[in-house]
Amino acid sequence: MNALRQRPLIRVFENARTAALAAARRVADVVLERQARRMSAVLGLATGATMVGVYGELVRMHREDGLSFAHVAGFNLDEYWPMDPNDSRSYHKVMAKLLWDQVDVNPSNVHLPDGRVAAAAIDEHCLAYERALRQNGDIDHFLLGIGRTGHIGFNEPGSGAGTRTRLVRLDERTLKDNARLARPGSELPEHAITMGVGTILEARQITLLALGAHKAEIVSRALEGPVHDEVAASFLQAHDNVTVLLDKEAASALSPDLQG
Ligand code: GLP
Repeated sequence: MNALRQRPLIRVFENARTAALAAARRVADVVLERQARRMSAVLGLATGATMVGVYGELVRMHREDGLSFAHVAGFNLDEYWPMDPNDSRSYHKVMAKLLWDQVDVNPSNVHLPDGRVAAAAIDEHCLAYERALRQNGDIDHFLLGIGRTGHIGFNEPGSGAGTRTRLVRLDERTLKDNARLARPGSELPEHAITMGVGTILEARQITLLALGAHKAEIVSRALEGPVHDEVAASFLQAHDNVTVLLDKEAASALSPDLQG
């Protein structure tokens, strides 16, 4: 074993709720710490079922504990393409409903890739998204989930460590997962615009949250398998400030010494 290799810190929780609360706490701590230094916080954000409890807790903190998002900028990982932001399936709508419409964020600080952009303008849009990110400074904290293909954002197998924001075709397994979740007649697009692995790895601090037995195998491959573009989340092993929060089920395929 290579003693120099930095494994992500792994914390295993009794259940999904306590793991999600811990993720929300980490986000809130970054916001508060930046606020104490009179600086704005730049958050990288994910969607997906995993994040529902996290955003719920952040909204509760806003309402009950006075956590303010007035000096927060949010950059989401991805958006389906093509997709209208007013479509209820869009990540724009999901983020508005779960978080942004319920807190005191300045709407001009809310950023997601635009699923309306014409095919010919996608590359320029992706460059502009990266530019907007740089103008806000580095991402202070990235909240990530993981797909069953090992994707972070929509970085499907084959996405290398140097990838940047771009249009991708979703993996067959992701399309199947999406189809299962979608209402009949409201299938999701086969493409998305996603930040790249390289974009994500530039964040100062990263939290990966995974919940449920259906994530156990991919969590183990991402954390204990080789660092390889077959599993985009495995590149997190190469980042020096990653914390992985798991419920017991998602941790169940890890070797016993990592299960905490
Ligand atoms: C989605 C998103 C990811 C998310 C992942 C897991 O499709 N693009 O950002 O983390 O897949 O989703 P879920 O939390 O629903 O399992």
